[in-house]
This record gives sequence, C-alpha cells and structure tokens, in this order.
Amino acid sequence: MCGIVGAVAKRDVVPVLVEGLRRLEYRGYDSCGVAVLQDGKPQRARSVARVADLAAQVAESGLTGETAVAHTRWATHGAPVTHNAHPIFSRDEIALVHNGIIENHESLREELRGQGYEFVSQTDTEVIAHLIHVLLQGAAAGDLFKAVRLATKRLHGAYAIAVFRKQEPHVVVGARAGSPLVVGLGNGENFLASDALALAGTTDQFIYLEEGDVVELRLNGVQIVDRHDAPATREVRTVHAYSGAVELGPYRHYMQKEIFEQPRAIGDTMEGVEGITPELFGENAEGVFKQIDSVLILACGTSYYSGLTAKYWLESLAQVPTSVEVASEYRYRDSVPNPKTLVVTISQSGETADTMAALQHAQSLGQAHTLAICNVGTSAMVRETALHYLTRAGTEIGVASTKAFTTQLTALFLLTLTLAKLRGRLTAAQEAEHLKQLRHLPAALNSVLALEPQIIAWADDFARRENALFLGRGLHYPIALEGALKLKEISYIHAEAYPAGELKHGPLALVTDEMPVVTIAPNDALVEKLKSNMQEVRARGGQLYVFADADSNIQNDEGVHVIRMPEHYGQLSPILHTVPLQLLAYHTACARGTDVDKPRNLAKSVTVE
Ligand code: F6R
Repeated sequence: MCGIVGAVAKRDVVPVLVEGLRRLEYRGYDSCGVAVLQDGKPQRARSVARVADLAAQVAESGLTGETAVAHTRWATHGAPVTHNAHPIFSRDEIALVHNGIIENHESLREELRGQGYEFVSQTDTEVIAHLIHVLLQGAAAGDLFKAVRLATKRLHGAYAIAVFRKQEPHVVVGARAGSPLVVGLGNGENFLASDALALAGTTDQFIYLEEGDVVELRLNGVQIVDRHDAPATREVRTVHAYSGAVELGPYRHYMQKEIFEQPRAIGDTMEGVEGITPELFGENAEGVFKQIDSVLILACGTSYYSGLTAKYWLESLAQVPTSVEVASEYRYRDSVPNPKTLVVTISQSGETADTMAALQHAQSLGQAHTLAICNVGTSAMVRETALHYLTRAGTEIGVASTKAFTTQLTALFLLTLTLAKLRGRLTAAQEAEHLKQLRHLPAALNSVLALEPQIIAWADDFARRENALFLGRGLHYPIALEGALKLKEISYIHAEAYPAGELKHGPLALVTDEMPVVTIAPNDALVEKLKSNMQEVRARGGQLYVFADADSNIQNDEGVHVIRMPEHYGQLSPILHTVPLQLLAYHTACARGTDVDKPRNLAKSVTVE
C-alpha cells in the first residue's frame, strides 16, 4: 500500500527511482509519480496508469535529476486522479510524497488556508507540503531538515514522507511514524524507500528508521534525529534484498508462483528446527512460556484465519485456552486484560496498521508477553515484540496471501508443540512423529500441487458462478474461511464459509442447483457428520465440490464432484487442504480474466487504518 523511493546522487537517479517503483508495484497502487529537481525547480511526471506508463512519460519528457522523490499511491483521501497523485508540490518550491493518513488534515487545512495557501488536490498530503513551506518561511528559517522536524510534531496519524525543496539541491528529508521507511546508503549517494526490495541492486547497506525518526540525506552522509529531536545512531545492516523475487520465471502470475513456492517456503521455515524447544522463539522464551496461562492471537484477514486454525491446535494439543481476535475490533473494544496471557500477533508484512495498533493496545493494558509470527524480520512488528518466529516464505508479491499463510501455520504448529512440551503434554515419541511429519510437508505439498489439472477443470465451472459456499468442520473450518476469502478477493465471486453443522441454521436457504458448495472432507472424527451435511446440500440440488481422502468413501456422483487428496497426516491436514483452495481461486480468477495479482480495491500491506 503506497510506496516511496527517494535519492540524492551525482548522477541521474530517475532510472533508479522508476525501477524502485516497479519493484514496489506489488504493494498495490492506483497512481504513481516522480519529481526531480531540474533546472533549479521541481518538475514532475504523474500517471493514473501503471509504472510502465510513468516510465514512458519520463523518457518522453526528458525528466532527469540528481535530487528526486517518487511514489506509488493507493488512494485514501481523494480519488485516484492525476491532480491527487504524488509528488505533491507547495508553491512550486517543495515536492513531497507521503504514505499513510494524516488524521488532523482538516484543521491543518483550515489553518493553512488562513495563511493564504490554496489547495489543488483532495489529499491529506497537501497539508504536509504547505505546512513545511510555511515553517521554512518562519521557525525553520530555510532549513528543510528543521522544517520537517517541526512539521511532524503537528501531524496526527500514521505516515512516512520524503521531501525536497528547490533551494537545497542534493538534500532529501524523510520521516516515519507508523509507516515503514528505510535509508539505503551508497557511495557518495543516498536513498530512501519503503522497502529494501525497491533498492535491490543499488545498495545492500540499509538503516531501518524507528518510529518518530526524521532523516536528512545528503551526498556524503545521513543525519537522523529521534522522536525527541535528539541525534540518533541507527544500526547499518547488510540486506541482500532479493530482486529475483520480482521475476516471474515460468509462471503467469506471482500468485501462481507463490503457490508453487510453498514446499520450499515451508522447508525454509523449518530450517534449523532440530527439536521442539522454546529457544525457537527467542532467548527468553522459556521463562515467558512458563508464566503464561493463555494465548491471545491478534491478526487481520488471512493471518487471522491462521490464528483461528492455531486455536484448535493450541487447545487440543497444548490445552492452552486461546482466543483469536480481529485486530481492528480488538483495538477498540473493552476487553478483560490478563497479564499472564501470551499476546501473539500474526502478520505477513509486519506493517499492518490494525495489527500494530492492536498490539500496542494489548501492551497498554499491561499484557507484556508478546510474540510475533511474521515474514519480515526488519518490520516494526518484530521490533516491538519480545519474542518472534520468522516465517521464511520470501517476498510475497501477489496481493492475495498464499505462502505466508501456510508458513504461518507451520510456525503456529511449532508454537503449539512447544507449549505442549513445556506443559508435559508431549511425549518424546509424539514429538518425533510430529517433527517427522513437519519435515515431510514439502513432499506432501508437492503431491497436492500435482492436483492442479483436476482443479483447472473445476475452475471453468466456478468462473460462470456468482456465489459459492465453502464448508469445513473443526480444524478445517478456518481453512474453508480462507478458501472463500481467496475466491472472493481475486475472482470477485461472492463466497461465504460456514462450519458445515451451521448449514441448517440459515445458509441452507441459499442452496439451489445454482450453488457450488466446496467441501473440505478429510477422513477425521467428523467425517460422518459432514456426510450428513453434504446430503442436506444435495437434497436441495446444490452442487458439491469435495476434497476427500481416499478412505473416506465419498464417491463421484450426480452433483458430487470429488478430488482425492493424497495421503496426509491428520494434524497438518489444514496446511495441505489450503493449497487446492488457493489453486481453485487462482484458476477461477484466470478464467474470469481478473487482475489476479492486483485485485481491484486491494493493496498488499495495509499500512492505514
Ligand atoms: C488476503 C490478504 C489479507 C492479509 C491481511 C493482513 O489474501 O492478504 O487479508 O492477510 O491484510 O496482512 P498481514 O498478514 O501483512 O498483516
């Protein structure tokens, strides 16, 4: 969601910035732009099409410069039209790009109007540009770094910004509060970006700014001040951001590539796991895990569904009472805090604003035991939690989360086993068996991926529908939810998931011969009950699409389409059953011709509330 790149150098940086924007496309955007200091003033190109269109405009107009900022915008305040696209100018002196939301933009706008500023966009961003401009005339006395430090004190909300002004060539100032921003250090040149990936190939030396930091980039160095305006030193890290993540290889879409990467991603997530031990989650994990009496999981979207799955594992295998909350709800509701609970946040990006705010809310209630399960080791979420498990899915570019989900489940299963072991609920033999099955997951997933041709045959059928139901029971109910979410977000088919036992309490009214009903039917303790639920569907003409185990005795029949799942290990079955649902959503979306990797209205990292 929104991307920033900025640079100061003694060469034309426009190609670096445009390439950076291309690498940030995956975050989701609906307009983009670049501004440079050229011929002594800011000049810009903006597009409401793709970065490729911006690149063509830049080439045609001959935009070049050594001081520049660039942006991909995901519209919040103001429609995705050219005059709202960033960079936003103030009085043709300042060029600014911004991620996030300024909550007090209305009062600032009134104040600035009173001082003679005209607003030409509907963005909240324009108030920042004018605020910096007005400060430069007064308290900041022509010093951009100082003006940004003063301006940020007046902003409420979450943001990352990058800005330059015509009077200070080779200076770009950045600030972060709630949205990520990294500094890339070069030789006689320096950069800013929302994600190190944007600068892969340009530098591998990065500083991850902390909350409230303001940074000034010059050719020969960077200066940082912290939230209290005190000079700050931040660790320089070598990060080999993998630009190969943005190469599609033989795949048609990133989502397809990422679905097929899951055996590797889970193998990597398990790397180094020799046995079940609290140290997997951090040095002090054992002490923490021994003190806690419950688990509170906070997450959004797909990550929330991995939390729901973990509740089944944690309560049955480790017998730890677990609650799972949608982060955007938890942060605003009155809850009963428990200082002995382990707060677990789950996030692919580690940037999701709602999950971060829920974490901070949980902490403010005196719940200090925190653990993040996250795919980005340098994220704010990892920094702000005491314990972590890093999933090693690799960069996920498709907006619809796939490999992040199955690696989260892998990490959550390891957490379950760890808590079970500490509570004396895991024998050595059970530990060895679970580990064996975890290590076998990549091979098991490859067998599931081999079902793709059968799923493509179903997808043609689904592509003609406007509604679908997904059913699962027990551990597989959250997987049904995830399957429905995948289908709706990328194919735009309305999909709902229910625990199969709930059918007759309402959703059965929707079942006609037009309704496809996807059923997850592993041969577990509930399979006979599930078969009764399937009969209820068939009796109303509903078309069943069933993922069944070989020994569950569910056969192809009129209105009953069956794909047989390869043999699998019961406890890990949710991970395996996720994959055919991802493939079904993917191929249905392809058959409908939607923009699979960038579905409408959605962004990758949701860094605003
Ligand atoms: C769905 C999807 C979203 C994310 C959600 C949380 O496919 O990708 O629902 O799961 O926005 O994002 P993270 O995991 O980055 O916190």
